[in-house]
Amino acid sequence: MSTPDAAIRAERPGDAAAIRQAVTAAFGQTAEADLVERLRADGEVVASLVAAARTAIVGHILFSRLDTGGRCAAAALAPLAVVPGWQRRGIGAALVRAGIDACRDKAVAVLVVLGDPAFYGRFGFTRALGARLRTPYDCDALTALELVPGALAAGAFAVRYPRAFAALG
Ligand SMILES: CC(C)(COP(=O)(O)OP(=O)(O)OC[C@H]1O[C@@H](n2cnc3c(N)ncnc32)[C@H](O)[C@@H]1OP(=O)(O)O)[C@@H](O)C(=O)NCCC(=O)NCCS
Repeated sequence: MSTPDAAIRAERPGDAAAIRQAVTAAFGQTAEADLVERLRADGEVVASLVAAARTAIVGHILFSRLDTGGRCAAAALAPLAVVPGWQRRGIGAALVRAGIDACRDKAVAVLVVLGDPAFYGRFGFTRALGARLRTPYDCDALTALELVPGALAAGAFAVRYPRAFAALG
């Protein structure tokens, strides 16, 4: 999966420094890049993809394991980053779509994201499904997507984020 500007591919050994640079540039701070590195170090990464332009990594998306108490395999989408100057060219959307496919391939049943519902809604994330989960981040910006239809049909349950998220505050 690619855009005219960048190829979307799985993170490879050796990408970490370029990912740190891209995520820091997108957010204008290092907290989200630190989160990526903690999740990697803690072994919590389900999928990590980059958008590779000709000479640099210009976007990144990460999915990490959520603890559902054994209810189903679930992952959190965070963070998503596209370097300023490369935004509004479809790279963010391509990362989300490729990330969803990668998670489906890994038998993840539910994805959760905290972010603009208008942006994530186009990929099928809904507030109605997000509201079936109890998380430390419950709010209108918490949406969810079922990769296995009906995975959230049995009623509300709690999910725990990897401990790396606690450092985000
Ligand atoms: C959010 C972000 C990843 C989007 O990446 P992108 O490559 O620009 O996204 P796309 O080009 O695929 O945009 C898809 C749609 O998202 C919307 N969109 C993208 N950036 C937006 C922004 N800054 N504000 C509002 N809507 C935005 C637009 O509707 C766009 O559709 P359009 O092209 O028809 O206008 C990027 O702006 C970014 O890295 N921002 C800083 C970090 C951040 O906030 N990450 C998300 C945390 S949840």
